[in-house]
Amino acid sequence: MNLVDKIDKSKLPQHIAIIMDGNGRWAKEHHKPRVFGHKNGVKSVRSVVEGAAEIGVKFLTLYAFSTENWKRPKLEVTALMQLLVNTISKEINDLDKNNVRLLTIGNIESLPKDCYNELLYAKEKTKNNTGLSLVLALSYSSKWEITDAIKKIAWEVENKKLSSDSIDESTLDNYLNTFNMPDPEFLIRTSGEHRISNFLLWQIAYAELYFTNKHWPDFRKEDLFEAIFDFQNRERRFGLISEQIKN
Ligand code: IPE
Ligand code: IPE
Ligand code: MG
Repeated sequence: MNLVDKIDKSKLPQHIAIIMDGNGRWAKEHHKPRVFGHKNGVKSVRSVVEGAAEIGVKFLTLYAFSTENWKRPKLEVTALMQLLVNTISKEINDLDKNNVRLLTIGNIESLPKDCYNELLYAKEKTKNNTGLSLVLALSYSSKWEITDAIKKIAWEVENKKLSSDSIDESTLDNYLNTFNMPDPEFLIRTSGEHRISNFLLWQIAYAELYFTNKHWPDFRKEDLFEAIFDFQNRERRFGLISEQIKN
């Protein structure tokens, strides 16, 4: 049986988040500069987006550039930003045709002007699409996001627009960049590192985690399907006991 046919379409994770890691190591293995790895990583993005849309995943969040990544060598940062603009301008018509809605999380105002403008244009163009929501995490880090949310909440309290007594978990949810998205139920990280690297810390409180040794440029939609199949064979207990889940 085909891998995609083994997936139960009625039990898909609504929101899948991916830490796309290993471009640099992949390039090194191919005796090429790091940027070669990033360029090949775009092929994986295309395949995974296609696969997610094909089976009916609602939200796919891709960690593309972290707040910490600004500290990389300037040449690499510039190349990554260029790749981002080029890729979006090249792909946006196809994404739009395929009913994909592009969203971002992160401090996108800190990106170079041409990237920022390209993103605004792409988000505006696809805002009414009803298929897959593709969320790019750019200049994103969870601690930045949570700190920013807390600042905004404090301002509301200070200005008597919100009472501190009324603050609950949903208040914080509403002030995060992800306020209109379901929490990811499934988090995938490629390239063998077992860490979260400041990604969606609040939102993945109960996500299932999946690690693969494959470097991102080798990851394709078949790998996504394999991961989802693994997800579907787990028992998510949310603090309960197995018998409670089964009944
Ligand atoms: C992921 O690959 C892409 C970004 C973080 C932008 P890396 O560039 O982190 O590749 P490794 O981890 O050095 O192999
Ligand atoms: C996490 O990967 C960020 C992205 C995938 C964009 P990194 O390669 O930057 O993470 P660390 O440095 O290994 O934790
Ligand atoms: Mg890395």
